[in-house]
Amino acid sequence: MYNLLKGKRGIITGALDQNSIAWKVAEKAHEEGATFVLTNAPVAMRMGEINALAEKTNAQIVPADATNVDDLTNLFIQSQEILGGKIDFVLHSIGMSVNIRKKIPYTESNYDYFLKGIDVSALSFHKMLAIAKKLDAINEGGSVVALSYMAAQRTYPFYTDMADIKAMLESIARSFGYYYGLEKKVRINTVSQSPTKTTAGSGIKGFGDFYDYADAIAPLGNADAASCADYCITLFSDLTRMVTMQNLFHDGGYSSTGVSDVVMQKMGIEEK
Ligand SMILES: NC(=O)c1ccc[n+]([C@@H]2O[C@H](COP(=O)([O-])OP(=O)(O)OC[C@H]3O[C@@H](n4cnc5c(N)ncnc54)[C@H](O)[C@@H]3O)[C@@H](O)[C@H]2O)c1
Repeated sequence: MYNLLKGKRGIITGALDQNSIAWKVAEKAHEEGATFVLTNAPVAMRMGEINALAEKTNAQIVPADATNVDDLTNLFIQSQEILGGKIDFVLHSIGMSVNIRKKIPYTESNYDYFLKGIDVSALSFHKMLAIAKKLDAINEGGSVVALSYMAAQRTYPFYTDMADIKAMLESIARSFGYYYGLEKKVRINTVSQSPTKTTAGSGIKGFGDFYDYADAIAPLGNADAASCADYCITLFSDLTRMVTMQNLFHDGGYSSTGVSDVVMQKMGIEEK
């Protein structure tokens, strides 16, 4: 415990259950001295698991559908009231593709589902930022992080429309990061995370095999949710105060590795 977030106020989206990346971020943020509000879509809260996290981290819960501007406006207004001041950090940890859920191949994407995926997983980020900026709800030097995946840069067939959606998410971080940085010194970054065993991750066709493949490529192995949370904490802290508009890979070196010895051996290719 380093008190990296002592005195900071935050909003953490997307904690569905103990496997969620956002769940780990909330636990770590609490350990590092932050106070925060937890939020998720009302429908996702029916299971009630988030209550245990709220109790553990002394957080209050403000439900919000991330596609709904009124909900998000209420989220920022209420969070400032609850926490007693402007917000210092926000985690966007929201992703959902109906095309993936229904196992529809990319080239046959249903466009209503595609638009839904864009709204939930990328436009929601723009909406959150626009509302925060309009309300002047984030302190100078504040930090906003959204979670992404490398399919934004390279093709992974199983990731279907989410690849395009993550590319949009990363672009919003750059575009909004420019304006918000210029006006209020608010920082906006995306963290491109390893395959992680969560509800969203495991919903992807062939996830288990791909998880093992990525683990065999990355020199450090796959980064888990807890280490992703640690990285997010550094980005919320003042130690990274000049980092903005970046897509930051958090993947054990996967994105920089062409092929690994382990994978060559698995393919039965012997050194000559
Ligand atoms: N799991 C992985 O392999 C992986 C890898 C890279 C990036 N990510 C990203 O990490 C983020 C978090 O996902 P996770 O893996 O922790 O899975 P998760 O299923 O635990 O979290 C996804 C969250 O999105 C929330 N959500 C969905 N629709 C919403 C809406 N309309 N309004 C508000 N919230 C909504 C869900 O309720 C859930 O809490 C996502 O952006 C995901 O794409 C995940």
